[in-house]
Amino acid sequence: MNAAKHLIVGNWKMHPSSLAEAKKIFRALLRGMGTYRHATLAVCPPAAYLAALRALYRGRRLIFGAQNCHFLREGAYTGEIAPPMLASLGVRMVIVGHSERRAMGEDNAVVRKKLRAVLDEGMEAVLCIGEAHRDSAGAYLAFLTEQLQSALTGLTAEELSRVCVAYEPLWAIGKSAAESAVRPAHVHEMVIFVRKFVHQRYGGEAAARVRVLYGGSVEPANAAALLLEGRASGLLVGHASIVPKDFLAIAALADRPAL
Ligand code: 13P
Repeated sequence: MNAAKHLIVGNWKMHPSSLAEAKKIFRALLRGMGTYRHATLAVCPPAAYLAALRALYRGRRLIFGAQNCHFLREGAYTGEIAPPMLASLGVRMVIVGHSERRAMGEDNAVVRKKLRAVLDEGMEAVLCIGEAHRDSAGAYLAFLTEQLQSALTGLTAEELSRVCVAYEPLWAIGKSAAESAVRPAHVHEMVIFVRKFVHQRYGGEAAARVRVLYGGSVEPANAAALLLEGRASGLLVGHASIVPKDFLAIAALADRPAL
């Protein structure tokens, strides 16, 4: 994937509630999607819909992603989905460590194993990190360092080049743009923080190249500021990603050169 382009990832979460509705959303995205010079689009629908949606689109302009996977390739794990299964459907990207999964019991050790499994399968990963709240003493920075350290330790530079770090502070998820407390300055701070972390371990080239996305209450109203003033490499979009006109509006706003 072209690292110089903005990456806009739609995380559909556990929506919509029927395949018919999922196809409707997806077809609207396909109809409205442009040829973007400065943006790459990815959608992560529920796993149950992946095969059917993939059958509607076999091109490479839109990346298919998954929201989660198991860390083993196969086995007696009822209800789980293994990375090779996703890869065999044409999935090229998997979200790992989303806060909603961490809230269901995934700890840093599990996230690290999942990240490894996704990369071993040749796919890209969107590694989510984020604190529950900010404190003026800066303890949240130690928390984020721990999340990064745990997940990224031991990756080669090539593997790291297939990881996007998505900063998703829990305090900014699930709101409208108007209600969200996140400001471009918060995003910019974290972009620098992640690059500094990577710089210390992988050097300047990797630090400049690593993609740092922002996620949490992204809507057309705040997307441009979060990208351009926040200097994010892309956006991880939740509720607005299942409203085709909103997701496409965000894509259009992202279709300008990254700073
Ligand atoms: P919202 O955009 O609905 O806040 O969700 C953010 C998110 O969790 C994306 O992964």
